[in-house]
Amino acid sequence: MPAFQLEVHPDQDALVDRGIQLWQIWAQQAIADHGYFAVALAGGSTPKQLYSQLAKAKDIDWSQIRLFWGDERYVASDHPDSNFRMTQDTLLKHVAIPTHQIYPWPTTSGDPALDAKHYAALLRTAFNGDQPQFDLVLLGIGTDGHTASLFPETEALLVTDDLTAVGSKSGEPRLTLTFPVINQSHRVVFLVAGASKAEIVKEVLTTEPHLPSQQVQPQGSLLWFLDKGAAAQLPLQIQL
Ligand code: 6PG
Repeated sequence: MPAFQLEVHPDQDALVDRGIQLWQIWAQQAIADHGYFAVALAGGSTPKQLYSQLAKAKDIDWSQIRLFWGDERYVASDHPDSNFRMTQDTLLKHVAIPTHQIYPWPTTSGDPALDAKHYAALLRTAFNGDQPQFDLVLLGIGTDGHTASLFPETEALLVTDDLTAVGSKSGEPRLTLTFPVINQSHRVVFLVAGASKAEIVKEVLTTEPHLPSQQVQPQGSLLWFLDKGAAAQLPLQIQL
């Protein structure tokens, strides 16, 4: 397991407050350093509260923030399952981020592989032809150890020569960033809350790599932000 920083907060409210504080700091640092703050957002339910609170937070210069997604369900952008729609409802509708700095996955060609390739091309353009290097990749974790749409025993886990891939959840296509692009980020944060994740968090943080989430080994920093419920099964020495 690569070196990582761990924070355990009393509850999800405290976890979100910390997330806001660090988003403000990291955004200011990145914008001062290279003129923008490029973030690949997580989907699912855990980040909803963070996004809703970010929408109300002060001291965030949204005009210099570029938002991407770590993965997307293969549905229309207005579908209830869409990560883009979830983010639009909780955050995008409420902040002054320029539309051209919002980079949703294309999901409408009917060909997931083609749409994944389109997003890879979009990433290259957004990063001026350089290798995409996010300032922050925000990830969740499933109880099976998946992250983004990198699910156990799927082909997407093996993609090392591209930025994006087609994932699969129970046969349903998903679009996802690949490990190489996640791992070349400046910072990766796993945001995990709830007792239902306690077992998988313990397995990921205390066993030899065998799960997708354990292949997240960024060249930058790796941080695990947990609430008490998600940290409940960690051995004490790992919490100190
Ligand atoms: C998605 C996410 C996925 C999510 C985990 C945890 O598209 O659903 O990218 O990787 O982060 O499944 O989901 P919850 O936060 O809903 O538990």
